[in-house]
Amino acid sequence: FLVYCDKNRKLYCNNLPFFWDYFKGMVIFACHPYKKHKIMFAKETYTTRRNSLKKSLGTGLLLFLGNEESGMNYEDNTYHFRQDSTFLYFFGLPYAGLAAIIDVDEDKEIIFGDELTMDHIVWMGIQPALCEKAQRVGVTETRPAADLKKYLEKAVAKRQVIHYLPVYRAEHRLKLLDWLDIKLGMEQPSVPFIRGVVNMRNYKTAEELVEIERACNVTADMHITAMKVLRIGMKEWEVVAALEAVAQANGCGFSFPTIATVCGQTLHNHYHGHTVKSGDMLLVDAGAETEMGYAGDMSSTICADKTFTIRQKEVYDIQVAAHTAAVRALKPGVPFKEVYELSCRVICEGLKGLGIMKGDPAEAVAVGAHAMFFPCGLGHMMGLDVHDMENLGEVWVGYDGQPKSTLFGLKSLRLGRKLEPGFVLTIEPGIYFIPELIDRWKAEKRFTEFICYEAVEKYKDFGGLRNEEDYLITPEGKRRLGKYVPTTVEEVEAMRS
Ligand code: GLY
Ligand code: MN
Repeated sequence: FLVYCDKNRKLYCNNLPFFWDYFKGMVIFACHPYKKHKIMFAKETYTTRRNSLKKSLGTGLLLFLGNEESGMNYEDNTYHFRQDSTFLYFFGLPYAGLAAIIDVDEDKEIIFGDELTMDHIVWMGIQPALCEKAQRVGVTETRPAADLKKYLEKAVAKRQVIHYLPVYRAEHRLKLLDWLDIKLGMEQPSVPFIRGVVNMRNYKTAEELVEIERACNVTADMHITAMKVLRIGMKEWEVVAALEAVAQANGCGFSFPTIATVCGQTLHNHYHGHTVKSGDMLLVDAGAETEMGYAGDMSSTICADKTFTIRQKEVYDIQVAAHTAAVRALKPGVPFKEVYELSCRVICEGLKGLGIMKGDPAEAVAVGAHAMFFPCGLGHMMGLDVHDMENLGEVWVGYDGQPKSTLFGLKSLRLGRKLEPGFVLTIEPGIYFIPELIDRWKAEKRFTEFICYEAVEKYKDFGGLRNEEDYLITPEGKRRLGKYVPTTVEEVEAMRS
């Protein structure tokens, strides 16, 4: 059982208050519930997941490649280690240098890896032995890393089907080419394996939701902190330092590189060297990652001054209207592509009110004219990855195997499928004025029936804005994850006074 004391020094046992007399004399490790971190679920979580996957594949050998340490500028000066998310999902172990197989035909599960050498222990500290790590996730067989190649060679010799997932790291590609004797570019990831994994990871369980909600709460605090600390004259990196400290003070890492920029028109702007001036808006897109690897992902747009300018407020309000319409529409059975189109129409309607667009919003969205101002998607799945399972292919994760559009704007929508209970996704409409895109489309006379280029010219120095929240689809509709972050013009301004 778990015993802890809350901040009022009241004792709890497994979430129930308990009487001190009963436990007198026992050693109690007390901690605040917000601070109790787990690095793994119970072993049954992993055995149940593997059993379900085995059942869905039915036959063959499934190969799971855990991640290696990766050198930044020399081998021993490594990037932050992040385990592969599918490896984490099925084998839970957040250690470098592991791989695993599920041999469905032979009914075997094996984790491959090497014990630490004394040099590793001297420099990096002790870890559990490989067999202890494996037992922790319900796997009884372990072998040295070098044995994996031999195991796969035998499987190839007996014509067993070897299922592997798409790789995103060069060392994994090299290993696959060597082990399976394939030529570069001829890898063939297994669609049944991809689908099997996606069909599980897309539906978040109660224990995963506790983790995601924790990531979202910390993420919300990061954004609230940014709203409080921002001052004219600061460098963007000072805001980054303050908001990232919130994640770190809560034992979290980051689910992606922080965006905090006065040039919000660049969708993924990772430069933090501008000085914030009066009249600027700071677009912050940042998220915490829990120790177990679950992500939060939120965005806010903050006025550098105490208030937004009238021009900023007019555009900001349109973005909030698109956001609100999208959130209202979330429920099981609704295709997310329709939610995206709805938010695009709201943006067109609003920009029409400002004289920037004209014509019928639905027609403008159908041909992609809105993408001048909203060239990205409305949201994406979120879980162990901030863009959940993007490495397995958006067509499988977000489109259930149906082809994605190639139309500019719509092609960047990572999620289009019908929503189902258990999906966790982001809602992040934005409005962006990208001078280079405006110049290109204007020169090409694109969509002149929908875009008033003369009016757009006046907004070329506007920048961009977005807000982003995270939602769980429930049987009844949806639930926002994490505490509320001020979102409307009035709410953000109230934080700035
Ligand atoms: N938060 C980064 C993104 O969703 O692309
Ligand atoms: Mn996002």
